[in-house]
Formats: sequence, structure tokens, C-alpha cells
Amino acid sequence: MSSTVSAPTPAIARRSPALKGTVRVPGDKSVSHRSLIFGTLAVGETRISGLLEGEDVLNTAKACAALGARVERLGEGEWRVNGVGVGGLREPDAPLDFGNAGTGSRLMMGVVAGNPITATFDGDASLRKRPMRRILDPLETMGVEVVDVAEGGRLPLTLKGPRDLVPITYESPVASAQIKSAVLLAGLGAPGETTVIEREASRDHTERMLAHFGAEVTVEPHGAHGRKVTLKGRPELKPAPIRVPADPSSAAFPLVAALIVPGSDILIEGVMTNPLRTGLFITLKEMGADIAYENARVEGGEDVADIRVRHTGRLTGVDVPAERAPSMIDEYPILAVAAAYADGATRMNGLSELKVKESDRLAAVADGLAAAGVTCRIDGDDLIVEGTGAVPGGGPVATHMDHRIAMSFLVMGLVSENPVTVDDATMIATSFPEFMDLMAGLGAKIELHEASAR
Ligand code: S3P
Repeated sequence: MSSTVSAPTPAIARRSPALKGTVRVPGDKSVSHRSLIFGTLAVGETRISGLLEGEDVLNTAKACAALGARVERLGEGEWRVNGVGVGGLREPDAPLDFGNAGTGSRLMMGVVAGNPITATFDGDASLRKRPMRRILDPLETMGVEVVDVAEGGRLPLTLKGPRDLVPITYESPVASAQIKSAVLLAGLGAPGETTVIEREASRDHTERMLAHFGAEVTVEPHGAHGRKVTLKGRPELKPAPIRVPADPSSAAFPLVAALIVPGSDILIEGVMTNPLRTGLFITLKEMGADIAYENARVEGGEDVADIRVRHTGRLTGVDVPAERAPSMIDEYPILAVAAAYADGATRMNGLSELKVKESDRLAAVADGLAAAGVTCRIDGDDLIVEGTGAVPGGGPVATHMDHRIAMSFLVMGLVSENPVTVDDATMIATSFPEFMDLMAGLGAKIELHEASAR
């Protein structure tokens, strides 16, 4: 089991004064996982700066080392990976423990697939509940043997990569960058072309990084919102420096906080603005938010900007289209908080994937809103939040080992009539270890509530 398990520690958020200041949130989680993985698959030395040093990414770093790469931390966010090359992985001596991380575990299954080795994948209680069949199905078609798997296609599971992997064309039933990435990473080890077709485009960091490391990859439009990605297998990946931009999914928390706390005016520096990640920002602007990109630029192959956020009054409820979901899949919990403070109903359509995140986020958000006195309902795969501009507060909100549920409801407590408590803030360290200090620096009254944990 994961070494990241620690005693639950509740936290409390109280009504706060206007948030002010300039902050930088940690490196993007998706890019951080991938930079370590690509460093492992390249021959020679890859230098990474701005790596997110959250528990999820540190578990990926450990897995890369267990598979034969030399992974070294040189300083804060500065890492060096000496890779073993495509097909050059060593068989690990022990199960790979990914803790809470779906991305780390699923991408690494694709990586292992392209090597004639056997590896066992495991994780914490939350990860052990998440579906892995969506990754195993295409990998089995490519020739990977699932030696062992827990009931329902869950962790722990053991994979054995074949000597000769078969390239495939895979039309993913779910818009998921994790599925796409696992198949493409496996495709690195197969001769010929591996193609992934997605009906809704999901985040494209894997495709970008493949090209950055010298692989031949083509991306074409497919239908109204989809893409077809084709990779030529068995390339020699060449080490390439990576500068990890700040994570828009982490920026979302101070950003929404500034939109709901009257008088706030903050700047969040160097945030990735890749259009496949900015559905939340678009939605909030539709709700009337004052969010401006300043100093927009390209850094390390990704669009980034400093984001200025000002409270200018109440937001208005909107209808969020289902096809926007892949570009804001991790942001619905914090959008629900913004919606609670808006005037009128916000309907978030097509949220089936939220049920299989670090928790069942659809249920966790609805229960949390109810615990804080907000009216909401689930209608099939849609969530409707009735905003009245005011939130009674309360709790405790059950976080179900989910970092984003914890952070979202702590943000909610910054303006509610009564404080909001969450039952456990420890999982925040998986993606945003600096959250408490960063929010306090802006003026937010959020603190750990250790006394009530005993
Ligand atoms: C991620 C993809 C998304 C997202 C996750 C990170 C990635 O998951 O929720 O936090 O880095 O590829 P799905 O691909 O399952 O939607």
C-alpha cells in the first residue's frame, strides 16, 4: 500500500478579507508526470525545471527509478533524469506504488507494455477503486498479458509486456487523455503506426512531448470536436529540456477564491493556457468574471500567461455544454463553488467521468454543497447548482481522499456565513503541497484543525 497514507487532518476556512497579491502555483501535474516518463524513455540526460513536487508526481519519479532510470533532484523543482530508451526498461524488483495517482499509474502501464518485463501496479485505497479496464483493453489488444488483476479490473494488477507489441488503431470510448496517452506510450514500443481516435479532444501534452523528444507524431481533426493522433513506433527519443508551466487546475483555486471574495485583486503568474485546459476560465468569463491574460507567451512549447483576477460583483449562472468537459474535467468541483455564489442556476452537463476520479466527484460535490446549505441536484450525468449569492456554510464536508474536493470546499468557506470544515486536508499534498501557505499569503483564513482530529 501507499506510503502516503497519513492520519486524516480536518481543516477549516473562515470568512476572509479581500485577497491581494501575486502568486505562482506549482508546476502542472500532467506535464510533470510526462516529463519524468519521457526522460526515462529517452537515451541520455533530460533536465526538468518547475516540476510539481506533489506526492503523485514523486510516486511516478520512484516508478521511473524502479524501471531503470536515474532520477535525481538537483534543487527545488529542478530534476535530472538519465533515461534507458524506448524498450530499455528494467524489470522492477517490487510492486510499483502510485499512491493516489491515476495519471501516473495509467500512463506507466502504457510504458511498461512496450517492454518484455513483468510489473505490478498498486496504489492507495482511492486508486484501488478506480477502473483500469479502460487501459487494459487496448493494451491487451496490442499483446500485453494481464497476469493478475483485482476484481472489477482494479489495482493491484500485474502486466507482462510481450516481445513484439502489435500497433493498433484505437477509438477510445471515453474522452480521456490517460487512455490516449497509455496507448501512445505503448505504441512507442510497437513497429509501425499506432493511432488513437478521440471523439472529443482531450489534453494533448503527450502528443506535444512526443514531438519535443523527436518522435514522428501527426494530429488531425476528427469530426466536430475530435482528433486522430498517429505515432510512428520505435523512435529513438532524444532528451529535451522541459520547463513545466504552472498548473491551471491548481490556479483554479486561488482564482475562484478571488472571484467570490469581495474586493479581491490577484495575479497568478506563468499559468498554462493550453486551450485544451482552459474550459473553466471560459466558463467563468461567461458567468461574468473579470479574468485577464497578461504577458501571454510560449514557454517550453506551451502557451502561458499571467492571470489577473478581480472581484467585480456577483457571477451569473450558466449552462456548461457537455463537449467542454474534457477541457475542464478536474475543475467541476471548484466551478460548483463559484456557481453556489452566482445568481441563478448553473447546469453542468455530461459529467459521467466525474464519477471515476479520485472520488465519485459528482456525489462528493453534491453532498458537500448540501452539507454547506447549498441547493443542488444531480439529473442523470448533469449537476445543477442553484446559486443565490450566499452560502450558509457548515460541514464537515467529506473529502473521500480527494484533494480537489478538499481545496474546493475550503475556498467555499472564505465567504460563507459560517465557516466550512472539511474532514481531511492531507490529500492536498498530492497535487498542491503549498496550498495552505499560498492561500494564507493572499489573506485567506484557512487552517488545519488538528485538535478536532483527535
Ligand atoms: C490527466 C487526464 C485526466 C485528468 C487527470 C490528468 C492526464 O484524466 O482528470 O487529472 O494527465 O492525462 P482522464 O484522462 O481520465 O480524463
